[in-house]
Amino acid sequence: MSDVVAIKDQVEAAVRAALSEVLPAELAGADPVVRRSDRADFQANGTLAVARKAGRAPRDIGADVAVRLHGFAAEVSGPGFLNVTVPDAAVWSAVAARLADPRLGLAAPHDGERVVVDYSAPNVAKEMHVGHLRSSVIGDALVRVLGHLGARVTRQNHIGDWGTQFGMLIQYLEEHPEVSWKGQGAETMSALDSLYKAARAAFEADPAFADRSRARVVALQSGDDATLTVWRDLVAESEKAFETVYRRLGVLLDGGDFDGESRYNDALPGVVADLLASGVATESDGAVVTFTDGVTGPDGDPVPLIVRKKDGGFGYAATDLATIRLRVEHYRADRILYVVDARQSLHFRMVFDTARRAGWLPAAVDAEHVPFGTVLGTDGRPFKTRSGRTVRLADLLDDAEAAVRTVLAGRSHGFTDAELDAVVRAAAIAAIKYADLSTTRTRDYVFDVEQMVATTGDTGVYLQYAHARVRSILRRAGATAVGHVDTTLPLHEAEKALALTLDGFEATLRDVAGTLEPHRLCGYLYDLATAFTRFYDACPVLGADDPAVRTNRLALCDLTGRTLATGLDLLGIPAPERM
Ligand code: ARG
Repeated sequence: MSDVVAIKDQVEAAVRAALSEVLPAELAGADPVVRRSDRADFQANGTLAVARKAGRAPRDIGADVAVRLHGFAAEVSGPGFLNVTVPDAAVWSAVAARLADPRLGLAAPHDGERVVVDYSAPNVAKEMHVGHLRSSVIGDALVRVLGHLGARVTRQNHIGDWGTQFGMLIQYLEEHPEVSWKGQGAETMSALDSLYKAARAAFEADPAFADRSRARVVALQSGDDATLTVWRDLVAESEKAFETVYRRLGVLLDGGDFDGESRYNDALPGVVADLLASGVATESDGAVVTFTDGVTGPDGDPVPLIVRKKDGGFGYAATDLATIRLRVEHYRADRILYVVDARQSLHFRMVFDTARRAGWLPAAVDAEHVPFGTVLGTDGRPFKTRSGRTVRLADLLDDAEAAVRTVLAGRSHGFTDAELDAVVRAAAIAAIKYADLSTTRTRDYVFDVEQMVATTGDTGVYLQYAHARVRSILRRAGATAVGHVDTTLPLHEAEKALALTLDGFEATLRDVAGTLEPHRLCGYLYDLATAFTRFYDACPVLGADDPAVRTNRLALCDLTGRTLATGLDLLGIPAPERM
């Protein structure tokens, strides 16, 4: 592994060094504000702000910096910013260095940081809905990016596996031994979902059944063996079904990541007792609650976070407070992410505030709610089936696969049936995940299969095509295609634009890790594919006359292909060799 210092970082360091030579000591650390630019390779705008502070004309400072800049050519422009040009040899050297490293020269800026990511979190005996899909897809991309930058990531799937609803489920099963729900493979979740609906209907229609269900809740909570056995079965079968979905979708979550609400049962009385003892929580009307400064309802009254209900039962909030204690004490997290839909923002704000005041969340530990918007149907309303049911994830994948098949049927691809199936599966995953990830996280988006599987435009399938096209060029060039990069060759303008885009990969990943916004990586990969197309249109690769030119261009192809494949992988999207 050898880290390559990105060209942009080199430029930044050089401008910073030159600035510190011309500025008074107290201004020397100033940010040079380096950006890519249309008019030069990079533009440094930092001279403007700093000149004002130093009481000098910006153009003067710019000129002073330009003559002291090492390694790069610079010119003062406009009111006094710098246009910086990178020498061709430096660009080729960076390409060669990245290609020589299996990690493409990426540094690991999050090395050793411990991050816990809470995501997916569907509910036992209920069909996963599109909200869980978003959490799974976004959470997984964050897990991959943070891990790739060196963080030690713990995945936690906080499934809803506890609560009063199990009373009615178990009671219903007890009274209806004819209901079959177990061992139905992919259909288990639907069978459980129907069971849930039947039990709910009985609970609402029949007060006697409701009473027996409540007694069943007590039996469950007090550890009655027969009741616990059925509960365990329900949880285990649901977990199996969730894992089937994760595998099909290419989500990393597996059996070792389940962190159900039930795991925290024993910790809940302690949560309440400690909060009361420290005075963070108060008793109000029989319930135990906390308040957060500034959180008030429409009437102006403070909104309580209910930690223990009036009837003595513990709320969702108590469990989440317990998750924080475990994640800090046991997992030693430096950063805890909760990838949960935006409607739970207030919940997390209050939970984090309570945990801080209770001393469970030290100042050095970050806790972040990573909210996301709602998935809408093409009618602009929350996505439901025509009959108003939640849409099953398996059906979404089936729909996407069918749409991809139609698109591919119109192309001559020469695949065997088995190859075609594999490509269809990969493209369907790309279609669904990319549509989700490429939207600004907090915004709602429309689930539109036709648009998602398009092979042109900003889609995951388009990026897979771009990658496969690069791989096909390399295949046609032959096995020894990529050789020694000649750093003395002059760069074509389109080669330079591509190489400088490739150079921005690491900055993009850092940005995603900081903002927790995967759409920035999507945008980057789309720009990269576009820069590659421009390069390929302008610069013959296989047809280049000069063998050294051909080799250098193949190096650019290779680095583009590997960057696209790595980037897609970090989004959880496969990159087939052929499409
Ligand atoms: N099971 C919950 C739901 O379906 C999501 C749980 C999110 N995670 C958490 N730690 N609260 O809405």
